[in-house]
Amino acid sequence: MSQKLQPVRGTRDILPEEYVRFCHIIEKAREVGQYYGFEEMALPIFEFTEVFKRTLGETSDVVNKEMYTFADRGGEEITLRPEFTAGIARAFVSNGLQQRLPLKLFTQGPLFRYERPQKGRYRQFHQINFEYLGVDDSYADAEVIFLAIQILDTLGLLQKVKLEINTLGDAVSRERYTKVLISYLQGQEKQLSEDSKVRMAKNPLRILDSKDEDDRKIVANAPVIYEFLTQAAKDRFERVLDIIDQHRCGLFEFELNPEYRVVRGLDYYSHTVFEFVAQSDDLGAQNTVLAGGRYNKLIAQFGGQEVSGVGFAAGIERLMLMVSGSTIATGLAPVVIVGLGGEEARNLAAKTVLALRAGERCAEMILSNNVGKAIGKANKMHASHVVIIGGDEVQKKKAKIKDMKTSQEVEKPISEIPKVLIEDLLKEGSKSYDS
Ligand code: HAM
Repeated sequence: MSQKLQPVRGTRDILPEEYVRFCHIIEKAREVGQYYGFEEMALPIFEFTEVFKRTLGETSDVVNKEMYTFADRGGEEITLRPEFTAGIARAFVSNGLQQRLPLKLFTQGPLFRYERPQKGRYRQFHQINFEYLGVDDSYADAEVIFLAIQILDTLGLLQKVKLEINTLGDAVSRERYTKVLISYLQGQEKQLSEDSKVRMAKNPLRILDSKDEDDRKIVANAPVIYEFLTQAAKDRFERVLDIIDQHRCGLFEFELNPEYRVVRGLDYYSHTVFEFVAQSDDLGAQNTVLAGGRYNKLIAQFGGQEVSGVGFAAGIERLMLMVSGSTIATGLAPVVIVGLGGEEARNLAAKTVLALRAGERCAEMILSNNVGKAIGKANKMHASHVVIIGGDEVQKKKAKIKDMKTSQEVEKPISEIPKVLIEDLLKEGSKSYDS
């Protein structure tokens, strides 16, 4: 092949140095999620197209332009999942999880959207995703927002983001607001993008979420939904804000002001919606790092009973762009055994390495004829200890263990070296190195 083969546009390889940060984010999300009682589950990577088409909204960009949809060999209409929430709702109904409510579910993995790739926006990307099902109370909304905050805080990002929170009210509030919005937009319909002209007829609220520059200018002066909320919807939202405000004291520091223009890009939301937006330049134009809200009608769309839900997802690639590498342990520091010269030395080195690994100690072997070069390599590997086994050591049946941090050396019978180092590990805990 003459040309260098590139990954498909919008996809990327995550090399080991980066993958450590990728896993770190998932581990921290999982760990904090456990404090809040979330259980982890996995979903299929593809679903029947209906699962997403029915729920995310006919006029949403995701359904309209971004889904990877194909007919499989059996003629089924299949879509690679563009998000998790619809799949969780489908899984809830398919598995009859009604009896297990309330449920707190965590999932993570790859998703697919045919978007125009740029920094922080890919066609295959990954999310951590949390859904809290079966509790229709402002406390549940506040709880998932606190979970989001604690995850961001654990990753050292809380001071780098801003919480934008809004309500989309109930159906009556939205109907009232839609009428007002239509009459505001009608005078300016000609200037709207083609997509938004279609949205005007089908779902005018979606125009508020348009990425088109001209649409954005028009929308900037539009009336906001808050003015048109029913009293019940307003009270519900105020309660969410109150709970967050009361409970954050002494725990987390962040600004709490409603941002009435947040509407979200998917159709299943009602009441609370929120986004955490990066304040630094780390993400460029794609600055929403975590987003979610309440969806009380979604599960019923799959033929189940009405079950309330609230949740959020965060893009792992976007989190990775913001998380600094310095705090993350990148790997276990190995014991390096150098087999120097002849076959017997190499055999002993290999035997020692295997015994260390069997004892759950990270170990690497370097075969070399040059001690200096071998030590150089061991340093590059972030070795915690180095043991050189050459002709002399084979004869004496003894070798020196060098602690690379303190430069101290102790001589031990080669056969005892694994035991000594495994015991040392038990005493000191696993050794890792930082990037
Ligand atoms: P979303 O706003 O579509 O919401 O996506 C959530 C997050 O996923 C975004 O804020 C962003 O960090 C990341 N993301 C989305 N698209 C891309 C992309 N093309 N490349 C990289 N990152 C991306 C949802 O997906 C909802 N299901 C969230 C939710 C859960 N609502 C309730 N529960």
